[in-house]
Amino acid sequence: MILETERLTLSPVTPKDGPLVHPIMADPEVMAHWDVAEIEDPDVVDEVLAGQVEAMAAERAFHWAMRLTGDGTFLGLCDLSDIDWRHKRAEVGFILGKDSWGQGYAYEAMQAVMTFAASQGMERLWARTQVGNDASEKLLAKLGFEEEGYMRGHVGREGGRRDVRLWGRLL
Ligand SMILES: CC(C)(COP(=O)(O)OP(=O)(O)OC[C@H]1O[C@@H](n2cnc3c(N)ncnc32)[C@H](O)[C@@H]1OP(=O)(O)O)[C@@H](O)C(=O)NCCC(=O)NCCS
Repeated sequence: MILETERLTLSPVTPKDGPLVHPIMADPEVMAHWDVAEIEDPDVVDEVLAGQVEAMAAERAFHWAMRLTGDGTFLGLCDLSDIDWRHKRAEVGFILGKDSWGQGYAYEAMQAVMTFAASQGMERLWARTQVGNDASEKLLAKLGFEEEGYMRGHVGREGGRRDVRLWGRLL
């Protein structure tokens, strides 16, 4: 399903997006608050995308590549994952290359994703953020998500444990 916003076109991720995603996921700053450290091996990123394509085919997720409608510039990815159709809920996620930060793109994309989720009958969206991911938390709050929980040491990364906030929003 292609989603259009004022400035953006969101289209389902394909394996061809790999070379555009590689530099984003190899960037330590972008991946600073991700569950895994930056991924330097392009083959591993391709496996991640293949998993996303598979999850879409199985109707477990929607993963979109985000582009500027004007000139087609690739900005990043966003998704509804871990879909539970019975309980009408999904997790939201988003990742943009550094050059695109701070211009309202994630907010604009996620508004369209939330409208789409509602059109599919979903009634609850949730998200997780690592403590310290101010951009993500600000974005979620602006989208109407509320903090629902605090999970101590929920993520194990690079030999340490990281605290995670749980966010939720009813549609
Ligand atoms: C999180 C992320 C997608 C936000 O994308 P973005 O397009 O820059 O966000 P927006 O421009 O739509 O901003 C949304 C709100 O967050 C705020 N914000 C953005 N970056 C911020 C930052 N670094 N610190 C504080 N607030 C920030 C914006 O000011 C805006 O609020 P405002 O309109 O009240 O000013 C982007 O920073 C990113 O890709 N981060 C790395 C990957 C990541 O951590 N993903 C999430 C994992 S849970």
